[in-house]
Amino acid sequence: MSSKASFLIVDDEQEVCNFFSYLLKQKGYRVITANSGTEAMEIIAENHFNTALVDLKLPDANGLDILKAIKGRQPDCEVIIITGYSTVKSAVEAIQLGALDYVEKPFVDINEMEALLDKSLTVRPVSEELSKAIQEQGFIIGRSQKMLNLISAAQKIAKKNITILIQGETGTGKEVLARYIHSVSHRSDRPFLAFNCGAFTETLLESELFGHEKGSFTGATHRKKGIFELAHKATLFLDEIDSASPAIQIKLLRVLETGEFLRVGGEEMCKIDVRIITATNADLAGKVAENKFREDLFYRLDVASLNIPPLRERQEDIELFIEFFLGKEAQAKQISLKQFSPEALELIKKHEWPGNIRELSNTVAQALLLSKGNLIEVEDLPERIRREFKINNLESLEQQMTAAVSKSAFACLPETGEKLNSLLNQFADNLFNAITFREGFDFELFNTEISNWRDDLLATLIEKALDDTYGNQVKAAELLQVTPRALRYHLQKARKKDNTNQS
Ligand SMILES: Nc1ncnc2c1ncn2[C@@H]1O[C@H](COP(=O)(O)OP(=O)(O)OP(=O)(O)O)[C@@H](O)[C@H]1O
Ligand SMILES: [Mg+2]
Repeated sequence: MSSKASFLIVDDEQEVCNFFSYLLKQKGYRVITANSGTEAMEIIAENHFNTALVDLKLPDANGLDILKAIKGRQPDCEVIIITGYSTVKSAVEAIQLGALDYVEKPFVDINEMEALLDKSLTVRPVSEELSKAIQEQGFIIGRSQKMLNLISAAQKIAKKNITILIQGETGTGKEVLARYIHSVSHRSDRPFLAFNCGAFTETLLESELFGHEKGSFTGATHRKKGIFELAHKATLFLDEIDSASPAIQIKLLRVLETGEFLRVGGEEMCKIDVRIITATNADLAGKVAENKFREDLFYRLDVASLNIPPLRERQEDIELFIEFFLGKEAQAKQISLKQFSPEALELIKKHEWPGNIRELSNTVAQALLLSKGNLIEVEDLPERIRREFKINNLESLEQQMTAAVSKSAFACLPETGEKLNSLLNQFADNLFNAITFREGFDFELFNTEISNWRDDLLATLIEKALDDTYGNQVKAAELLQVTPRALRYHLQKARKKDNTNQS
């Protein structure tokens, strides 16, 4: 009968295969086993499974490749990875590649294992499962596949007692994610302590992290508990971990390896149980390569790594964020809810968001306060977003340049000549006031300098016109009422002189 759920077990240890076969057949399920990667691939090609249990280390294959093959052919098949302690990092990677979970050998808790196998038959879509916790926390996940995969992995990893490294550009929500992980972990009823390593000098950082004994340094008038002690049984979030000095890195390594540390100036070993999540917007692996961060510490911290994509790679989520921040800000400031005009929205979508979600949140809040009507218009957006739009939007750029030319901002100066003459006379007065003939005067040198200065002046004027026309030489020439050829000639003349002066 094909309606029975079917399981695939891939493990080179026959005992493991027998164990699962027995367990699952007892429950009335179909089971097929494979002892190698090759065998597994052949079976996958011909059979459909509800769940596959795959050993990470196979004699002829990597379990991750089998996982990919299964997900490629049968996306609905849930995969549970079987791993030893030494391969936990790869198992975490497997979760990020879509595995449901991993189990560590030897299997100690059979009930837990059975629950996991049953669960694999009734997995609900990630989005559905996540929505509740997210609403409670004000944590927007959005629709982008990258983010859904990330959260799905984070949620599974949260339940394991492993160290997590969160990386991402500034403002992408690393701390928000760390708080979320804590809230779905087994420590959710204990505190979440956030600590920014970048905010302290080296000496202060050590005492803040590990505490100090009375009299250990000037000003240490009493014993003080460090953040590690305070975070006992809880979750400790260490932000900007890349700014820890080499001495601090050694101490951190020791705590991670043994759960033990000494207070500054202390002799008594403190033992703690802390779940550590770290974050950085630096490229930590790159820092390791440059010998600026300890490799052994990096591997300890990076058991599970979660990389949050920048906002520009999550275009589809922007509107969701806007709606969320508008609602939040309107409520906080007790003002009526507004919407962005379609033009403003278009600008927002085109912006690169180097400050990511933080920048978007601030922009929305600011624009809401600035706007006068019911709609938030383009004028209510910050200059940097409007300017970028001008540069990117060629059609409107064309219009702007034509407008600039017709306005001819410089025109009044050469036309009447009066203002220019008066400015030049002022300049000549200043110049001659500074000249004395007492120590002799080099007339030829003066002549060369003045002619160089004249060329530079013209080049600067042209550059200003180029700035105003976003680099378009034809438009700039129109603005200056010269031919583009003349414009290029003057520019090159000044540049050539610059180069000969430098060499
Ligand atoms: N997924 C999200 N849902 C809702 N708000 C978010 C989300 N991600 C970030 N934010 C908001 O963006 C701001 C920045 O988030 P957070 O402090 O977590 O960023 P970060 O990556 O730690 O930045 P930094 O590298 O500068 O420390 C916060 O105000 C936070 O509320
Ligand atoms: Mg942060």
